Amino acid sequence: MARTMSRTRKLSAFVATVLAATGAQCLEIENTNEGRLPAMGFNSWNAFLEKINEEKFLTAAREIVDLGLRDLGYTYVNIDDGWSDKKIWRDKDNRIAVDYKKFPDGISGLADKVHAMGLKLGIYSDRGTKTCASYPGSMDYEEIDAKTFSDWGIDYLKYDNCFFPKEEEDEHPWAPEWWSPIQDFNDVRSGPVPAGYDYSTSRSAERYRMMRDALKKQERMIQFGMCNWGHARVERWGNQTGQSWRMWGDIQPTWTGNSDFIRWGIMPILNHALFYLDYTNFWGHGDMDMLEVGNGLTDAEDRSHFALWAILKSPLLIGTLLDKISPAALKTLKNKELIAFNQDPVFGGPARPYKWGINPDWTWNQTHPAEFYSGNSTLGLHVFMLNTLDHATLKRVDFAEVPGLDPAKQYTVHDMWTGKDIGTFGKFFSMAVASHDIACLRLNEYKSERKPAPVRRSALKAVGVSREDL
Ligand SMILES: *[C@@H]1O[C@H](CO)[C@@H](O)[C@H](O)[C@H]1NC(C)=O
Ligand SMILES: *[C@@H]1O[C@H](CO)[C@@H](O)[C@H](O)[C@H]1NC(C)=O
Ligand SMILES: *[C@@H]1O[C@H](CO)[C@@H](O)[C@H](O)[C@H]1NC(C)=O
Repeated sequence: MARTMSRTRKLSAFVATVLAATGAQCLEIENTNEGRLPAMGFNSWNAFLEKINEEKFLTAAREIVDLGLRDLGYTYVNIDDGWSDKKIWRDKDNRIAVDYKKFPDGISGLADKVHAMGLKLGIYSDRGTKTCASYPGSMDYEEIDAKTFSDWGIDYLKYDNCFFPKEEEDEHPWAPEWWSPIQDFNDVRSGPVPAGYDYSTSRSAERYRMMRDALKKQERMIQFGMCNWGHARVERWGNQTGQSWRMWGDIQPTWTGNSDFIRWGIMPILNHALFYLDYTNFWGHGDMDMLEVGNGLTDAEDRSHFALWAILKSPLLIGTLLDKISPAALKTLKNKELIAFNQDPVFGGPARPYKWGINPDWTWNQTHPAEFYSGNSTLGLHVFMLNTLDHATLKRVDFAEVPGLDPAKQYTVHDMWTGKDIGTFGKFFSMAVASHDIACLRLNEYKSERKPAPVRRSALKAVGVSREDL
């Protein structure tokens, strides 16, 4: 979101003149990189649900610093649902009442402490009258709440989509699950949508815009993470409304499957995201939901989950107990090369599948989505090979299949997990990939006249499997 002119110190005389000439009161100017790239940080929900308090956030913040995560770009410490007082609801000035048992110094006290550690503080609210866990929502209090959050020193708002009254329902409701063959949702579908219907005129979009406008009026830059689960075709108006928008239901720490069609495993979320890649670029990111790395997936699954979220340019919000995190999960979250791909300053778009693999291209399938991806970064061209099978397998990059690679040329293949070059190859490269693991590679053209570097055989086992396993 853009800051307003009042915050801008470096307006050129030229712009000032144009302003005077047009009589504009307030120029939106993108004078900050805030929100240009996917947000990185921590959110409390996957680790604590609503059982939160100040100490838990201070522990998370200290760990982010001590474990070196802040220096890798994880800067947001985001409070999810459960921070307010259900009994008092709003105070005499209509501000949401803080639960002082959980937050003895209030949210502003926590914000001061988190800011002092060089981190930012996020908060949570809802477009309806109540949040999803039935705490006060912001409906009809958008202005007051945005001002309150700004006064407290908040830097990020996650805005959920629960509990709004009937008159706030969309005229033509749409949920992404309806696109799938999942029958359970069909009975709530509301008749045919007129051709060319513009979802940015929906009540959902209007409500999210009300909070966006309220946030824009504040002195602080507050990132706006919209959490309406892909409803009302949010990707079509999300880029104009906030910095990110949830694409689908909630995440759960399983590889496949779902719980009551509300929480979904890694593969179903990935499968969905593949059909919406065109909507993500600088300033606006489809949010695949907060990370479950460290919460019970296998180490291989953690690697794939993190890598896929990173390369598809989803926000990267850690959701595990950082003081109890395993070395393997921490290593995954700290992969510098995947973070650099996610945060690339020049290439804003996500990696894309160049073929599906197990299934024919563009198959909608929640257990075996696309396995072969390529993407560009400042450092070169990358290939990512996911193994959706329940056993290890040999995966092969055919240079002729990857847009941007030339089968007549030699490429040095670099392993983004080990940070080392594997060797120089022509025409194709194959590598063993463990079940549910992912190979993350960078291929740079080999231009030297010298003999290509020899292949490091040991590196071919890097993705946690030996050739004997095949
Ligand atoms: C979203 O809007 C920004 C300008 O604010 C633009 O640079 C970017 O390309 C847009 N994203 C997409 C996917 O069109
Ligand atoms: C998903 O793909 C796998 C592999 O082709 C197939 O066995 C399975 O039946 C597919 N699932 C559905 C629901 O079609
Ligand atoms: C990466 O860049 C190459 C050109 O170097 C282009 O052919 C290819 O389509 C790009 N890939 C993606 C996924 O954008």
